[in-house]
Amino acid sequence: MKKLLVVYHSKTGRNRKLAEAVCAGAHHTDITTVDVQQVMAREAGPDHLLSADAVVLCTPENFGYMSGAMKDFFDRTFYEVEGRLKPLPCCIVIGAGNDGSGALRAIRRIIGGYPMREVQPEILVIGEPAEADLERCRSLGLAMAAGLDLGLW
Ligand SMILES: Cc1cc2nc3c(=O)[nH]c(=O)nc-3n(C[C@H](O)[C@H](O)[C@H](O)COP(=O)(O)O)c2cc1C
Repeated sequence: MKKLLVVYHSKTGRNRKLAEAVCAGAHHTDITTVDVQQVMAREAGPDHLLSADAVVLCTPENFGYMSGAMKDFFDRTFYEVEGRLKPLPCCIVIGAGNDGSGALRAIRRIIGGYPMREVQPEILVIGEPAEADLERCRSLGLAMAAGLDLGLW
């Protein structure tokens, strides 16, 4: 089995909804070779990354940056996994209040060093997620899981 890891932080629930939608999309009945694991950023550690075949990073934007919990996740895992990732296929989901570009830029500056490589376009959601936003996240989860299932990444 391959593993799709979804690491997320959410204070008021929006990014939790987005992360759950990604996981729901990845749980497609036609995909039988992929396990999906959803973990809060503050509980995720190097072993989660080392056992993952792909990762989705989902965070609010706080003060023009990723959330402190997501930054802490990177702080606690960077050197611990250095030189041990494949590189890891990844994608980014940002649920922000009115912008999100700072969080996206900050994550992109960090992930190349792990290394992780983006294999799907980012999703940026402003405000409360609408059904269309959740559907985009479900499609992203399906694409990430299907890519693993088919050996595309
Ligand atoms: C302390 C704090 C700082 C924030 N800073 C920003 C910001 O710089 N840019 C932005 O677009 N939204 C900002 N927001 C809004 C959140 O990103 C937004 O409400 C998000 O949807 C919350 O996600 P959550 O419900 O998963 O916690 C901030 C929220 C908080 C609590």
